[in-house]
Amino acid sequence: MNISITKTTNPQVKPDSSTLGFGKVFTDHMFIMDYSADKGWHDARIVPFGRLAIHPASTVLHYGSEIFEGLKAYRRADGEVQLFRPLENIRRMNRSAVRMCLPEIPEDMALEALTTFINLEKDWVPSANGTSLYIRPFMFGNDETLGVHAVKNATFIIITSPVGSYYKEGINPVKIMIESEDVRAVRGGTGEAKCGGNYAASNRAGERAEKLGYSQVLWLDGVHRKYIEEVGAMNVMFKIDGEIVTPMLAGSILPGITRKSIIELLKSEGYKVSERLISVDELEKALEEGKLEEAWGCGTAAVVSPIGELCYKDKKFVINEGKIGEVTQHLYDTLTGIQWGKVEDKFNWVYKL
Ligand code: PLP
Ligand code: COI
Repeated sequence: MNISITKTTNPQVKPDSSTLGFGKVFTDHMFIMDYSADKGWHDARIVPFGRLAIHPASTVLHYGSEIFEGLKAYRRADGEVQLFRPLENIRRMNRSAVRMCLPEIPEDMALEALTTFINLEKDWVPSANGTSLYIRPFMFGNDETLGVHAVKNATFIIITSPVGSYYKEGINPVKIMIESEDVRAVRGGTGEAKCGGNYAASNRAGERAEKLGYSQVLWLDGVHRKYIEEVGAMNVMFKIDGEIVTPMLAGSILPGITRKSIIELLKSEGYKVSERLISVDELEKALEEGKLEEAWGCGTAAVVSPIGELCYKDKKFVINEGKIGEVTQHLYDTLTGIQWGKVEDKFNWVYKL
């Protein structure tokens, strides 16, 4: 693959890594590649970060043909930089592309784009505790016509942002509201694709929850409105009476890479892990019986985030006295340990640059 590189003549001063939030600062360059039905993927280039010019009729602006991914580059104590399971993101992006009628990118091409670009931006990977370089690959349909069809032209871009904690709470427990009005997805819809539209449609509930002091919403299934699905930007897991339970992948939730890794990790340690239906009633009953021991969300941006309180209609479920639980802490320590190169990577998840 031929990637042309044009370096910026105006590099920014890098921010102090102890003050980073999430996704506010961007690095000096971006990777861009175009697709057309006749040429395939072409014109791969790394250029100075800047605004895009797109046609006002571009498909993405009208019909929302957009998918994205999220992964991170981590700075190890020895100064080296590593990624976490990047092929999983590439594969999920291609599955999202199939669902949204966008073109797939051959895995080796996507990996080369990613590693070439991150190598160029390597100095931007921060080193302060808990910080990383968030990588946001995305793709959009870019036909210059108002017809509604599978697109013939698309653009793939990678941008990167040095980040700290996603939630202002950091590793402290967050409060989550169980959403009872809006739904995020149904089977056969786009819930398992990582497409922008899923997030656009979830903002109304998210805003309502935030006004009431909650960090995000926990979605229920769109049909029965009683089974737990996932949180706005993370999958969710519970420890009920010693067993780890998490909603199964049935087409409406995002197959999270953190979720998959945690399941593999816990199973290897002998925990009983079940992927199944979990109703709000079951959670309430378990809470009443003192069996709802822990709850946490998991995702690339949020890492492992303890849930201290769930609110459903007018009921409040306080979990583990609002404190981080033992398994949650263990998962946070192990996963971040592997990601930052402090814990042995028995599973071969790490990809060194
Ligand atoms: N669910 C949703 C809706 C998300 O946005 C994310 C974040 O990417 C996740 C789950 C977790 O996925 P992953 O662990 O691959 O980051
Ligand atoms: C991620 O964890 O990578 C996500 O994509 C969450 C995001 C919507 C902020």
